[in-house]
Amino acid sequence: MIVTAPAKINLTLRILGKRPDGYHALESVMQTLALADTLHIEDGETLTFTCSEPSLAGEDNLVLRAARLLQARGGTRGARLHLEKRIPAQAGLGGGSSDAAAALAALDTFWDLRLPPGELAALAAQLGSDVPFFLNGPAAVVRGRGEQVRPFTHNANCSVVLVKPACGLSTPRVYAGLQAPPMPDEAPNRQPETRAMIAALSSRDCARVAAALVNDLEPSAFRLLPELGDLRARLLALGCLGVLLCGSGSCLCGICPDPATAERAAQAFNEYWTWAGSFS
Ligand code: C5P
Repeated sequence: MIVTAPAKINLTLRILGKRPDGYHALESVMQTLALADTLHIEDGETLTFTCSEPSLAGEDNLVLRAARLLQARGGTRGARLHLEKRIPAQAGLGGGSSDAAAALAALDTFWDLRLPPGELAALAAQLGSDVPFFLNGPAAVVRGRGEQVRPFTHNANCSVVLVKPACGLSTPRVYAGLQAPPMPDEAPNRQPETRAMIAALSSRDCARVAAALVNDLEPSAFRLLPELGDLRARLLALGCLGVLLCGSGSCLCGICPDPATAERAAQAFNEYWTWAGSFS
């Protein structure tokens, strides 16, 4: 069995406040990309895990942790898991979270567990804030700390360029740099930025999508990694309609008017990891 685990971008990311448990309450429009890792699953006596990047093949890999959670739910068989990585780490593209969701969904079928969707979603939330989204892509409004996922459909298919500086960013450090006020007692209604992005996606107008981009984590991430400011300026000069930090970074995402602009922009950054493609 072979399954794909797509990357995501946050087209909007509003931080609503800091929660008593230390996490941040957020609202985000999330979208998967055609960029994806691949998870290969074969029968095995025991559970084994290998990865195209050997440094990621440790016990703490979210794929292995997802598999162990399912084993505890009655998955008594083994499996040979192999992960082909294409999504860079510490980029804000949700690679590890997507791998975990792919492992949960695929092993649930492979081991014939057929857990109710709510149970699978609870296991996903246990593994990380972004994991539940990947059980529900390609597009969704995400709330809470990430576990409340409302999928929606749209037909926009924008060209995208990704550029990741050599230096990654740690998610906890970026959140810590926010100094967000405590979350208000009343859960706020759907944010205007969320509604604007959904309307832009429904219009299929990528210039409107670009104009509606917002990410409240940018000030903190740009303080930690000032070169992001230059990179954004270069991407705009290369013809991107809008440029936004992916999640907590350090990857930047440019929304482009056409595939040729995305390709040209990717080639202009040969010193960094880049990708050109589109929504999935
Ligand atoms: O849930 P996950 O382990 O992916 O989160 C990593 C870190 O990111 C958390 O420890 C926390 O510092 C921060 N975070 C947050 N609020 C969120 C999601 C993540 O503060 N909604």
